[in-house]
Amino acid sequence: MTTKKPRTRMAATPRKPLTQLPAWKALVAHHRSVGNTHLRELFAADPRRGTRMTLEAAGLYLDYSKNRVTEKTLKLLVELARQAGLAGRRAAMFRGDRINVTENRSVLHVALRAPRGAVILADGKNVVPEVHAVLGKMTSFSERVRSGEWKGHTGKAVRNIVNIGIGGSDLGPVMAYEALRHYSQPGIVFRFVSNVDGTDFVEATRDLDPAQTLFIISSKTFTTLETMTNAHSARAWLLQGLGAADEAVSRHFVAVSTDAANVSAFGIDPENMFTFWDWVGGRYSMESAIGLSTMLAIGPSNFESLLKGFREMDEHFRHAPFGRNMPVLMALLSIWNNEFLGAQTVAVLPYEQYLKRFPAYLQQLTMESNGKHVTLGGRKVNYETGPVYWGEPGTNGQHSFYQLIHQGTRLVPCDFIAFGQSLTPLGRHHDILVANVFAQAEALAFGKTAAEVRAEGTAAALVPHRVFEGNRPSNVVLADRLTPEVLGRLVALYEHSVFTQGVIWNIDSFDQWGVELGKVLAQRIIPELEATTLPRLRHDSSTNALIRRYRKLKSAKQGRRRVGDTIVQQREIPGSAVPPPLGV
Ligand code: F6P
Repeated sequence: MTTKKPRTRMAATPRKPLTQLPAWKALVAHHRSVGNTHLRELFAADPRRGTRMTLEAAGLYLDYSKNRVTEKTLKLLVELARQAGLAGRRAAMFRGDRINVTENRSVLHVALRAPRGAVILADGKNVVPEVHAVLGKMTSFSERVRSGEWKGHTGKAVRNIVNIGIGGSDLGPVMAYEALRHYSQPGIVFRFVSNVDGTDFVEATRDLDPAQTLFIISSKTFTTLETMTNAHSARAWLLQGLGAADEAVSRHFVAVSTDAANVSAFGIDPENMFTFWDWVGGRYSMESAIGLSTMLAIGPSNFESLLKGFREMDEHFRHAPFGRNMPVLMALLSIWNNEFLGAQTVAVLPYEQYLKRFPAYLQQLTMESNGKHVTLGGRKVNYETGPVYWGEPGTNGQHSFYQLIHQGTRLVPCDFIAFGQSLTPLGRHHDILVANVFAQAEALAFGKTAAEVRAEGTAAALVPHRVFEGNRPSNVVLADRLTPEVLGRLVALYEHSVFTQGVIWNIDSFDQWGVELGKVLAQRIIPELEATTLPRLRHDSSTNALIRRYRKLKSAKQGRRRVGDTIVQQREIPGSAVPPPLGV
């Protein structure tokens, strides 16, 4: 990236407020007439609905027929996208305009998966060659580690890889590792440490041999408190475990960051740094160098397939008409559910155990992106923005929270994700698993009426308890099997859906100012907890009391902490961006 002033600082797009757009007003009126129509009626009125309201794109099949929409609803939603300027904003993103207006940055995660010959400009410079140069460096490093050619300080090959990062520098890597575990190199153990809670680090490294352990310190800024605290503890753990001095660090630590100065201040050889750029948002970075652990696990060629999957969905998103565009449709349905039907949440329910961290990954992608209360121009919105995303793999969730989805008072639209084939076929398991997906979507949509319950001979007093109202919307996404390519398509599907929703809400989906205040206050409180004598506290009465209570409760001796099984002395590390509580 060049540092020169942008040619095209993207001003907050002048646009009518969302609720003033004619399509919005038409949707308000339309909702009055169809809002409560039951899915039973919609299906009865159109026997082909279940095949008509479906879409195939980039190898994914979406059945959206069980949403509470008519053809007219869809038409109006598509018109809303048009009036909200989606085509222009989409083009601006792919063109490299600074659409992240509050940080004055381009948003070019699509460049991370662009083919070698593509041209994508940021500040007039084609970024694609740099992307491929880093991919090349990741490839040769991965091959050296996977083959055993890369040796640790004592001459042993790497058997354990620990990614240290948080947020986008953790959730993408850990989700992708779990999702693609089937393709992972046997014989190498992967661990992911994110939490500043020391338990995370201690448990992740408890059974590892430092001589065979490689740490990847993943942090866009290389200043994040949690990551730097864990990184310093890792260095202490390694050097004490090896009984070695600082020169051992270069064989056991690599960094993924945009900040070379902070990386070398930590003591990592710049040769062992894998770079990315400020136009990659943390939550949009899993296929950048932040995906180094993914490439180490699945190998460069599977990583290329992952990129190909992203690319396929990018192309679909870029070119398909809105009404046949999967990310756009999913976004519009979410807008309908959220704004007009009053849903405040989306449950993401993968029926694939390997996708167990997918909902957690989506939480950051969706909620850090669209959890905003002002428009691009800084005006408070008068409509709802990003819904709460959450979920668990099926069928486990069925025996826990599905009760509320079926019979509670809140509307919880669901995204079911399932596959035609299991990667680990076992007897009848997969048919049973997938039968549950279809059954849940069916039950949510159609429910069971009081008449049906009575007809089963249910005692009158129990009838209301056993009624399922139905009319609960859901999407079903199907793919053949969970390959790296399919994972890329799925992630890109949600990325572009998040983008589309952000455009309609006219918010900045690429900043995250909401995480700052807590970080600043924590920095103020840390010394108040660590000081040997209680400093003068200037918080509110609750925070002051909590600090006093904690100081009484904590029993650890100041100045000595335990890292795994090793006691280390606390002292500050020169050149470190964050004063570490641990170190040697
Ligand atoms: O706290 C929010 C955040 O800035 C995320 O957006 C980001 O993914 C995460 O922290 C980690 O940041 P970094 O990669 O700079 O350590």
